[in-house]
Amino acid sequence: MIPTESTNKNRIKNRIRTAAGLAILSISVFLSGCGSSTMVQTETEASDGLISVAFSEVGAESDWRVANSESMRTTFTTENGYEFYFEDAKGKQENQITTLRNYILQGVDYIVLDPVIETGWDEVLEEAKDAGIPVIVVDRMIDVEDEDLYTAWVGSDFQKEGETAMEWLEDYLEEQGRADDEIKILHVVGTLGATSQIGRTAGLEDGVAAHENWEIIAQVQGEYTQAKTYEVVSELLKETQDIDVIYCENDNSALGAIQALDEAGISYGADKDVIIISFDATAVGLEACMEGSINLDVECNPLHGPLVEEIILQLEAGETPEKLAYVEETYFTPDMLTEELIESRGY
Ligand code: AHR
Repeated sequence: MIPTESTNKNRIKNRIRTAAGLAILSISVFLSGCGSSTMVQTETEASDGLISVAFSEVGAESDWRVANSESMRTTFTTENGYEFYFEDAKGKQENQITTLRNYILQGVDYIVLDPVIETGWDEVLEEAKDAGIPVIVVDRMIDVEDEDLYTAWVGSDFQKEGETAMEWLEDYLEEQGRADDEIKILHVVGTLGATSQIGRTAGLEDGVAAHENWEIIAQVQGEYTQAKTYEVVSELLKETQDIDVIYCENDNSALGAIQALDEAGISYGADKDVIIISFDATAVGLEACMEGSINLDVECNPLHGPLVEEIILQLEAGETPEKLAYVEETYFTPDMLTEELIESRGY
């Protein structure tokens, strides 16, 4: 549910901030003064009735990530009744833990966490729990002893995304008359330990295990970036070019692999020998798919802002949100795409 202006106004009017909260807040301004400029606020600002939402983002490693940050920013605006704090962790969990501790000291109303990796969150989330701050996890999941350490999670079913890719590959090879051929797969792995990596890798490995003529010939660490993937795939191509499928765990990795293939003079994509599989379905990925460079782009929806807001509004209304909410996703092949469709998706 997206709030209307009037529901927001009512909510803001009804909102009561405690004196204790304000005290914590003013102390935190002093304590976190050397932190980030996005975290500077005053007692006057904090008492204006806005709901403070503090987001710890993974980084800016991919187009998907940029769209994800933008979705949060455009949802949690002052006009919508929020005070929004944002920190980019630059791909490092230790930065996220520091950020979370600052948010706790600030006494924000809600913490939203997109965790770089799944493990290592128990201690800092205990601190958030002790401070009475609900933590909403988005995109990647966390692996904690006590599930009460977070209020809700919203994101993608990454393993299902991988399974979708494997089902598509089976059908495509069949159509191409290659169902019985030896299929050699190069696996470009995302950030190790991230739920998206774990799920997509599991989907691939299950698919390979189910086909005795499919084989993963190498796994390289693309870290979800075009630059890193270009580097590792270029190196790999010096060792072997006997590859049928490149399974890239996101669009920016697919672009890096394509760059390396171009340089090596190897053709790929629709109706070519090397099949490129990608994930995300961002505009850059879909453009490459529409022109036939990427054979399959499995969607991963980054528009989490409105979904997190829905959870916050439920909590504000005293309701209990669903613990785990999976977003709906589809996939795209070149024949399904038009310029209008890509533009209409907005990211
Ligand atoms: O966790 C989601 C993944 O992280 C996206 O697929 C990728 O592009 C991003 O960096």
